[in-house]
Amino acid sequence: MTTRFEIREFRPEDLDTVALINRACLPENYSPSFFLEHYYENPKIFLVAEAEGKVVGYNMCRIEFGVSNVRTAFAKKGHVISVAVMPEYRGLGIGKALMERGLAGVKEGGAAEIYLEVRVSNTIAVGLYKKLGFKINRVSDAYYRDGENAYVMVKDFSI
Ligand SMILES: CC(C)(COP(=O)(O)OP(=O)(O)OC[C@H]1O[C@@H](n2cnc3c(N)ncnc32)[C@H](O)[C@@H]1OP(=O)(O)O)[C@@H](O)C(=O)NCCC(=O)NCCS
Repeated sequence: MTTRFEIREFRPEDLDTVALINRACLPENYSPSFFLEHYYENPKIFLVAEAEGKVVGYNMCRIEFGVSNVRTAFAKKGHVISVAVMPEYRGLGIGKALMERGLAGVKEGGAAEIYLEVRVSNTIAVGLYKKLGFKINRVSDAYYRDGENAYVMVKDFSI
């Protein structure tokens, strides 16, 4: 039997669950106010996945202004801050759906590109991002607190 899931925008009442998923899935953990700031600033691209009546994953994106990762210009850029799916709900297409909805929202928000950082050892996430059209742009040395390098991966919406 396939597990049905729905992607929807984050709501403040999801905060505790999203923080719990974040702590269960990633070593990079954020304060409640960090999540809420993103929600207030970018409500359309802070997404959650609901399955079996509960929130089981999230994708928190934002839109930034800065130097483009793909051309010599100042640009509106999407940034995937954090994405995670609870272990027992992985491999069902939830991560991909969360990412696709995030990409669409960032594009609608006027960004021409989107980027993210991912641990070089995180082959599953890197594989997912490549499937979605992200390319490795550069390596950021010792990006993570434990010293691991990050790939900066970028998707250019114009190609
Ligand atoms: C990365 C993550 C969000 C993917 O979520 P998910 O719901 O399992 O992803 P999906 O089921 O949509 O799978 C998408 C793709 O990921 C890859 N993938 C998923 N599970 C995999 C596995 N066990 N082995 C290899 N590749 C896998 C595949 O490329 C898959 O595409 P396919 O189904 O077309 O083959 C999830 O593994 C996770 O929460 N990991 C811990 C947190 C994390 O690393 N976040 C990213 C930080 S940058």
